Amino acid sequence: MRIERTGAKEMLTYWNGRFADFAERISARVESGVEECWLLFDEDSNRWIGELHIRWDKPDQPEEANGVDTACLEAFRIDEAFQGQHLGTMLMRRCLERIRERGFTRATIGADDSDPRLGVMYQNWGFTRRVREDGFDYHDDEGNLIHDTYVLYANDDVQHTGLK
Ligand SMILES: CC(C)(COP(=O)(O)OP(=O)(O)OC[C@H]1O[C@@H](n2cnc3c(N)ncnc32)[C@H](O)[C@@H]1OP(=O)(O)O)[C@@H](O)C(=O)NCCC(=O)NCCS
Repeated sequence: MRIERTGAKEMLTYWNGRFADFAERISARVESGVEECWLLFDEDSNRWIGELHIRWDKPDQPEEANGVDTACLEAFRIDEAFQGQHLGTMLMRRCLERIRERGFTRATIGADDSDPRLGVMYQNWGFTRRVREDGFDYHDDEGNLIHDTYVLYANDDVQHTGLK
């Protein structure tokens, strides 16, 4: 496995048409340096199997990222076939290291409460402060109305991540 920071054009190539509605916006941010895209590659199959982005600045949401000391982690995912092998942990460790390298001291990440295990995972990694909660409704595949909560978590001292 290999972790690599990728450029805007390469990111679009890897995404291969996915997330078309916002891909251009994200790649523009990557191009300008305000966002970084970190990919995990499986060297056996020579394809990317995981992703985590760092946003350095969000002028409209400074509690998430402020360009000074707080960075926001987004788009965290590991290919289903590779989940549960601590690869997500590996990618998170590298991105938190990157945040420290840039001299930032705080990291934030958001999760829906629909899978409460996600919140536990983030808390185990030092994201212990609940910064903000937003309620939202959506329809599931069967059309049932679901009430959910989006929680923004903060790790206020990225030196101490608790990552194994
Ligand atoms: C969340 C995700 C990125 C984790 O990656 P992963 O490689 O499967 O995670 P790891 O194997 O490194 O596991 C890390 C720890 O969290 C636990 N864990 C793994 N997936 C979890 C999940 N979906 N929810 C809660 N806990 C999880 C593991 O048991 C492990 O705990 P341990 O260290 O005590 O053994 C991956 O499961 C994923 O892509 N899920 C779908 C997309 C998603 O929900 N992304 C997060 C958006 S907020």
